[in-house]
Amino acid sequence: MVNSIFDYYKPLIEDRIDYLLPETEAAYNEVVKAARYSLKLGGKRIRPIIMMEFCRLFGGESKDALDFAVALEMIHTYSLIHDDLPCMDNDDFRRGKPSCHKAFSEDMALLAGDALLTEAFTVAANAMANDSMKIKAVATLSQMAGFSGMLGGQVIDLSFVKNPPDLDSLCDMYARKTGCLLRAATIIGAICGGANETEITKADLYAQKVGLAFQIIDDILDVTADPELLGKPVGSDDKNQKTTFVGLLGLDGAKAAATKLTNEALEIINGFSGDTENIKALTSYLLDRNF
Ligand code: IPE
Ligand code: IPE
Ligand code: MG
Ligand code: MG
Ligand code: MG
Repeated sequence: MVNSIFDYYKPLIEDRIDYLLPETEAAYNEVVKAARYSLKLGGKRIRPIIMMEFCRLFGGESKDALDFAVALEMIHTYSLIHDDLPCMDNDDFRRGKPSCHKAFSEDMALLAGDALLTEAFTVAANAMANDSMKIKAVATLSQMAGFSGMLGGQVIDLSFVKNPPDLDSLCDMYARKTGCLLRAATIIGAICGGANETEITKADLYAQKVGLAFQIIDDILDVTADPELLGKPVGSDDKNQKTTFVGLLGLDGAKAAATKLTNEALEIINGFSGDTENIKALTSYLLDRNF
């Protein structure tokens, strides 16, 4: 079931990336190459797929959200490039290949991240959508990526090395560093599909549950996964002295917490009347994934 969802969406996303971010012969082509390198390595594409499915759930065509979905994946990829830098998690592999700063250089990885963040807003501003939707989408993207969103979460993550958090503080940090981009996915998808305010709020709540569960599973995989399959190093959190859900609750406790959040997310989805089959399949897949 879930494979057919990925098989349907991934080519759409890849083709749109190639159209919106083509290769260039310009004098600045090194940074375009570096940005495209990380973006085209793949990854699960979970945020864009969830966005397009939420658009469909509320009555839109999934392609109505495609450009915003690509913009979000660009912001996510920027966050990964910078997350891997020596001054951050110092990880040499990402999506099964050398990290951007290893394949290119640190300066080019820094600029490729900057470029993806900036160009994401070009893509969103030029999206085929009405102006009111575009303004809401751009505001959501920037808010979810900025100070109180993903970026703020990354800052708090760094601060926890010196001041290890309790479970509540860890949840707040995860809600930002990981939850916020998933919230952008469901909120923008719902907006593109024509959802009303109540529906958007529920879509947001779903993403908050899934976002937290997603980072808890990421913590578990950092301990248990096969690095070949995971596409990034295992043991990164331990190496960087990060407090994680696994550290605070153990592997079983962490899995139980992610399972509870996933069940709560599925309950929210059951409250919607549209075609929820794909979203339910994706939600369950995210809990049981092994990469
Ligand atoms: C990794 O995200 C970073 C986290 C927020 C845990 P993904 O697991 O979605 O990474 P890709 O996009 O599939 O590479
Ligand atoms: C990072 O969390 C989340 C981001 C905002 C990039 P991690 O540092 O755990 O992500 P991975 O494990 O490197 O993908
Ligand atoms: Mg990190
Ligand atoms: Mg990392
Ligand atoms: Mg991790």
